[in-house]
Amino acid sequence: MIVSASGSQSLASALATALDEPLAETTYERFPDGELQVAVPGFDAERAIVVCSTATSDAHIEALQLQDAVREAGTSEIVTVIPYMGYARQDRAFESGQPVSARAVARALSTGTDHVVTVNPHEESVGDFFDVPCATVDAAGQLANPLPDLDDPVFIAPDAGAIELAETVRDAYGTGETDHFEKTRHSSTDVELEPHTADVTGRDVVLVDDIVATGSTMAGAVSHLSDDARVFVTCVHPVFAGMARTRLARAGVATVYGTDTIECAESAVSVAPAVAAALD
Ligand code: R5P
Repeated sequence: MIVSASGSQSLASALATALDEPLAETTYERFPDGELQVAVPGFDAERAIVVCSTATSDAHIEALQLQDAVREAGTSEIVTVIPYMGYARQDRAFESGQPVSARAVARALSTGTDHVVTVNPHEESVGDFFDVPCATVDAAGQLANPLPDLDDPVFIAPDAGAIELAETVRDAYGTGETDHFEKTRHSSTDVELEPHTADVTGRDVVLVDDIVATGSTMAGAVSHLSDDARVFVTCVHPVFAGMARTRLARAGVATVYGTDTIECAESAVSVAPAVAAALD
Protein backbone atom coordinates (compact mmCIF):
# COMPACT_ATOMS: atom_id res chain seq x y z
CA MET A 1 0.00 0.00 0.00
CA ILE A 2 1.30 3.45 -0.92
CA VAL A 3 1.29 6.05 1.85
CA SER A 4 1.64 9.66 0.79
CA ALA A 5 2.97 12.58 2.77
CA SER A 6 1.26 15.91 2.12
CA GLY A 7 3.99 17.21 -0.18
CA SER A 8 4.25 14.11 -2.38
CA GLN A 9 0.62 13.39 -3.26
CA SER A 10 0.85 13.48 -7.07
CA LEU A 11 3.96 11.34 -7.14
CA ALA A 12 2.50 8.86 -4.62
CA SER A 13 -0.63 8.59 -6.71
CA ALA A 14 1.39 8.03 -9.90
CA LEU A 15 3.42 5.41 -8.06
CA ALA A 16 0.25 3.63 -6.90
CA THR A 17 -0.88 3.47 -10.53
CA ALA A 18 2.52 2.33 -11.79
CA LEU A 19 2.76 -0.44 -9.16
CA ASP A 20 -0.96 -1.26 -9.19
CA GLU A 21 -1.07 -0.87 -5.41
CA PRO A 22 -3.77 0.89 -3.35
CA LEU A 23 -3.22 4.41 -2.04
CA ALA A 24 -3.80 4.71 1.71
CA GLU A 25 -6.01 7.38 3.24
CA THR A 26 -3.90 9.82 5.22
CA THR A 27 -5.15 12.60 7.48
CA TYR A 28 -3.22 15.70 8.39
CA GLU A 29 -3.73 17.89 11.42
CA ARG A 30 -1.83 20.80 12.90
CA PHE A 31 -2.35 21.48 16.59
CA PRO A 32 -2.58 25.01 18.06
CA ASP A 33 1.03 24.80 19.28
CA GLY A 34 2.21 24.10 15.73
CA GLU A 35 2.78 20.38 16.11
CA LEU A 36 1.80 18.13 13.21
CA GLN A 37 0.03 14.84 13.24
CA VAL A 38 -0.34 12.73 10.13
CA ALA A 39 -2.25 9.48 10.46
CA VAL A 40 -3.26 6.47 8.38
CA PRO A 41 -6.74 5.44 9.59
CA GLY A 42 -7.68 2.07 8.17
CA PHE A 43 -4.18 1.20 6.97
CA ASP A 44 -3.98 -2.55 6.45
CA ALA A 45 -1.21 -4.03 4.30
CA GLU A 46 1.82 -6.24 4.61
CA ARG A 47 4.08 -3.70 2.93
CA ALA A 48 3.95 0.08 3.33
CA ILE A 49 5.64 2.35 0.81
CA VAL A 50 5.89 5.75 2.48
CA VAL A 51 6.49 8.51 -0.07
CA CYS A 52 7.82 11.72 1.43
CA SER A 53 10.14 14.33 0.00
CA THR A 54 11.91 15.86 2.96
CA ALA A 55 12.11 19.36 1.54
CA THR A 56 11.15 21.03 4.84
CA SER A 57 11.69 20.37 8.53
CA ASP A 58 7.96 19.59 8.88
CA ALA A 59 8.29 17.02 6.09
CA HIS A 60 10.94 15.19 8.14
CA ILE A 61 8.47 14.96 11.03
CA GLU A 62 5.78 13.75 8.64
CA ALA A 63 8.04 10.99 7.34
CA LEU A 64 8.85 9.82 10.89
CA GLN A 65 5.17 9.91 11.88
CA LEU A 66 4.04 7.99 8.80
CA GLN A 67 6.69 5.33 9.37
CA ASP A 68 5.57 5.00 12.98
CA ALA A 69 1.85 4.97 12.12
CA VAL A 70 2.14 2.12 9.61
CA ARG A 71 4.34 0.14 12.05
CA GLU A 72 1.66 0.68 14.72
CA ALA A 73 -0.92 -0.56 12.20
CA GLY A 74 0.97 -3.84 12.00
CA THR A 75 2.76 -3.68 8.66
CA SER A 76 5.71 -6.04 8.40
CA GLU A 77 7.80 -4.15 5.81
CA ILE A 78 8.32 -0.43 5.38
CA VAL A 79 9.98 1.13 2.37
CA THR A 80 10.57 4.86 2.62
CA VAL A 81 10.77 6.64 -0.71
CA ILE A 82 12.48 10.01 -0.32
CA PRO A 83 12.14 11.54 -3.79
CA TYR A 84 13.99 14.70 -2.72
CA MET A 85 16.23 14.33 0.29
CA GLY A 86 16.53 17.61 2.12
CA TYR A 87 19.79 18.38 3.93
CA ALA A 88 21.66 16.09 1.49
CA ARG A 89 23.89 18.99 0.44
CA GLN A 90 25.15 19.23 4.05
CA ASP A 91 27.05 15.99 3.55
CA ARG A 92 30.08 17.01 5.59
CA ALA A 93 31.06 19.45 8.30
CA PHE A 94 32.37 22.39 6.28
CA GLU A 95 33.74 24.10 9.39
CA SER A 96 34.63 22.92 12.86
CA GLY A 97 31.57 22.61 15.10
CA GLN A 98 29.12 21.95 12.27
CA PRO A 99 27.00 18.80 12.07
CA VAL A 100 26.96 16.37 9.16
CA SER A 101 23.27 17.12 8.74
CA ALA A 102 22.68 14.60 5.93
CA ARG A 103 23.96 11.85 8.22
CA ALA A 104 21.86 13.06 11.16
CA VAL A 105 18.59 13.03 9.20
CA ALA A 106 19.46 9.74 7.47
CA ARG A 107 20.03 8.08 10.83
CA ALA A 108 16.72 9.39 12.16
CA LEU A 109 14.81 8.20 9.09
CA SER A 110 16.53 4.80 9.25
CA THR A 111 14.99 4.03 12.64
CA GLY A 112 11.49 3.66 11.18
CA THR A 113 12.09 1.81 7.94
CA ASP A 114 13.49 -1.37 6.43
CA HIS A 115 14.68 0.16 3.13
CA VAL A 116 15.11 3.59 1.61
CA VAL A 117 14.81 4.65 -2.01
CA THR A 118 15.91 8.13 -2.99
CA VAL A 119 16.18 9.95 -6.31
CA ASN A 120 19.35 11.63 -7.56
CA PRO A 121 20.76 12.54 -4.15
CA HIS A 122 23.22 15.41 -4.31
CA GLU A 123 26.06 12.91 -3.88
CA GLU A 124 25.60 9.16 -4.33
CA SER A 125 27.54 8.58 -1.10
CA VAL A 126 24.71 10.15 0.93
CA GLY A 127 23.01 6.76 0.68
CA ASP A 128 25.75 5.35 2.93
CA PHE A 129 24.53 7.52 5.82
CA PHE A 130 21.40 5.38 6.21
CA ASP A 131 21.59 2.46 8.65
CA VAL A 132 19.32 0.39 6.34
CA PRO A 133 19.84 -0.46 2.64
CA CYS A 134 19.39 2.61 0.45
CA ALA A 135 18.83 2.42 -3.32
CA THR A 136 19.35 5.53 -5.39
CA VAL A 137 17.34 6.08 -8.56
CA ASP A 138 18.66 8.11 -11.50
CA ALA A 139 15.65 9.90 -12.99
CA ALA A 140 17.62 12.50 -14.96
CA GLY A 141 16.85 10.82 -18.27
CA GLN A 142 13.17 11.73 -17.82
CA LEU A 143 14.14 15.38 -18.24
CA ALA A 144 14.55 14.80 -21.97
CA ASN A 145 10.82 14.01 -22.31
CA PRO A 146 9.38 17.55 -22.18
CA LEU A 147 12.05 19.05 -24.45
CA PRO A 148 10.82 20.19 -27.86
CA ASP A 149 12.69 19.41 -31.08
CA LEU A 150 16.10 21.00 -30.62
CA ASP A 151 18.41 22.59 -33.16
CA ASP A 152 22.05 21.40 -32.91
CA PRO A 153 21.71 21.11 -29.12
CA VAL A 154 24.38 21.42 -26.48
CA PHE A 155 23.65 20.07 -22.99
CA ILE A 156 25.58 22.07 -20.42
CA ALA A 157 26.20 21.32 -16.74
CA PRO A 158 26.67 24.45 -14.60
CA ASP A 159 29.44 22.71 -12.65
CA ALA A 160 31.62 19.63 -12.92
CA GLY A 161 29.39 17.72 -10.49
CA ALA A 162 26.50 17.78 -12.97
CA ILE A 163 28.41 16.53 -16.05
CA GLU A 164 27.00 13.01 -15.77
CA LEU A 165 23.47 14.39 -15.47
CA ALA A 166 23.97 16.44 -18.64
CA GLU A 167 25.25 13.34 -20.42
CA THR A 168 22.27 11.31 -19.19
CA VAL A 169 19.79 13.89 -20.50
CA ARG A 170 21.70 14.12 -23.80
CA ASP A 171 21.67 10.32 -24.13
CA ALA A 172 17.95 10.19 -23.36
CA TYR A 173 17.30 12.96 -25.90
CA GLY A 174 19.35 11.05 -28.45
CA THR A 175 21.78 13.56 -29.88
CA GLY A 176 23.86 16.59 -28.96
CA GLU A 177 27.13 17.84 -27.54
CA THR A 178 27.87 18.18 -23.82
CA ASP A 179 29.88 20.81 -21.99
CA HIS A 180 30.22 22.27 -18.50
CA PHE A 181 31.11 25.40 -16.54
CA GLU A 182 33.48 25.52 -13.58
CA LYS A 183 31.65 26.94 -10.56
CA THR A 184 32.92 28.62 -7.42
CA ARG A 185 30.30 29.36 -4.78
CA HIS A 186 31.09 32.37 -2.57
CA SER A 187 27.77 32.34 -0.67
CA SER A 188 24.31 30.85 -1.06
CA THR A 189 23.38 33.43 -3.71
CA ASP A 190 26.83 34.45 -4.99
CA VAL A 191 28.28 32.00 -7.50
CA GLU A 192 31.04 32.58 -10.01
CA LEU A 193 31.14 30.57 -13.24
CA GLU A 194 34.08 30.15 -15.59
CA PRO A 195 32.75 30.09 -19.16
CA HIS A 196 32.15 26.78 -20.90
CA THR A 197 34.03 26.09 -24.14
CA ALA A 198 31.35 25.16 -26.72
CA ASP A 199 30.23 27.88 -29.15
CA VAL A 200 26.47 28.09 -28.59
CA THR A 201 25.72 30.92 -31.00
CA GLY A 202 22.46 30.18 -32.78
CA ARG A 203 22.13 26.78 -31.09
CA ASP A 204 19.70 25.34 -28.58
CA VAL A 205 21.12 25.04 -25.08
CA VAL A 206 19.82 22.72 -22.36
CA LEU A 207 21.22 23.51 -18.93
CA VAL A 208 21.07 20.48 -16.63
CA ASP A 209 21.53 20.37 -12.85
CA ASP A 210 20.35 18.20 -9.99
CA ILE A 211 18.80 21.06 -8.02
CA VAL A 212 17.62 24.58 -8.67
CA ALA A 213 17.49 26.13 -5.18
CA THR A 214 18.09 29.89 -5.12
CA GLY A 215 18.46 29.88 -8.93
CA SER A 216 21.83 31.65 -8.63
CA THR A 217 23.72 28.88 -10.43
CA MET A 218 21.36 28.74 -13.38
CA ALA A 219 21.01 32.54 -13.59
CA GLY A 220 24.81 32.76 -13.65
CA ALA A 221 25.05 30.14 -16.37
CA VAL A 222 22.46 31.89 -18.54
CA SER A 223 24.34 35.17 -18.25
CA HIS A 224 27.34 33.54 -19.97
CA LEU A 225 25.35 32.30 -22.95
CA SER A 226 25.07 34.02 -26.28
CA ASP A 227 21.88 36.13 -26.58
CA ASP A 228 20.70 34.29 -29.67
CA ALA A 229 20.92 30.82 -28.11
CA ARG A 230 17.53 29.35 -27.15
CA VAL A 231 17.90 28.19 -23.52
CA PHE A 232 16.02 25.47 -21.62
CA VAL A 233 16.69 25.00 -17.91
CA THR A 234 16.18 21.49 -16.52
CA CYS A 235 16.67 20.03 -13.07
CA VAL A 236 15.67 16.91 -11.18
CA HIS A 237 14.67 18.76 -8.00
CA PRO A 238 12.87 22.11 -8.47
CA VAL A 239 13.42 23.45 -4.96
CA PHE A 240 12.94 27.15 -5.88
CA ALA A 241 13.90 28.69 -2.57
CA GLY A 242 13.03 32.30 -1.79
CA MET A 243 13.06 34.54 -4.86
CA ALA A 244 14.45 31.89 -7.23
CA ARG A 245 11.69 32.28 -9.83
CA THR A 246 12.18 36.03 -9.97
CA ARG A 247 15.96 35.61 -10.17
CA LEU A 248 15.59 33.20 -13.10
CA ALA A 249 13.01 35.36 -14.90
CA ARG A 250 15.26 38.42 -14.55
CA ALA A 251 18.09 36.35 -16.06
CA GLY A 252 15.88 35.68 -19.08
CA VAL A 253 14.88 32.10 -18.32
CA ALA A 254 11.44 31.47 -19.81
CA THR A 255 10.94 27.79 -19.04
CA VAL A 256 12.21 25.42 -16.38
CA TYR A 257 11.51 21.71 -16.61
CA GLY A 258 11.72 19.82 -13.33
CA THR A 259 10.37 16.57 -11.95
CA ASP A 260 7.75 15.84 -9.32
CA THR A 261 10.26 15.02 -6.56
CA ILE A 262 9.10 18.45 -5.44
CA GLU A 263 5.57 19.12 -6.63
CA CYS A 264 5.22 22.54 -8.20
CA ALA A 265 4.31 24.32 -11.43
CA GLU A 266 7.66 23.31 -12.93
CA SER A 267 7.10 19.56 -12.35
CA ALA A 268 6.92 18.73 -16.05
CA VAL A 269 7.76 15.06 -15.70
CA SER A 270 7.24 12.30 -13.13
CA VAL A 271 9.92 10.15 -11.56
CA ALA A 272 7.24 7.52 -10.77
CA PRO A 273 8.30 5.08 -13.55
CA ALA A 274 11.93 5.17 -12.40
CA VAL A 275 10.98 4.74 -8.72
CA ALA A 276 8.49 1.97 -9.56
CA ALA A 277 11.21 0.11 -11.44
CA ALA A 278 13.41 0.25 -8.33
CA LEU A 279 10.59 -1.12 -6.15
CA ASP A 280 9.51 -3.97 -8.40
C1 R5P B 1 25.34 22.26 -6.17
O1 R5P B 1 26.40 21.68 -6.24
C2 R5P B 1 24.12 21.76 -6.87
O2 R5P B 1 24.45 20.81 -7.84
C3 R5P B 1 23.33 22.88 -7.50
O3 R5P B 1 24.13 23.48 -8.50
C4 R5P B 1 22.98 23.90 -6.48
O4 R5P B 1 22.36 23.28 -5.38
C5 R5P B 1 22.04 24.93 -7.05
O5 R5P B 1 21.79 25.88 -6.07
P1 R5P B 1 21.34 27.34 -6.42
O6 R5P B 1 20.11 27.25 -7.29
O7 R5P B 1 21.04 27.94 -5.08
O8 R5P B 1 22.47 28.03 -7.10
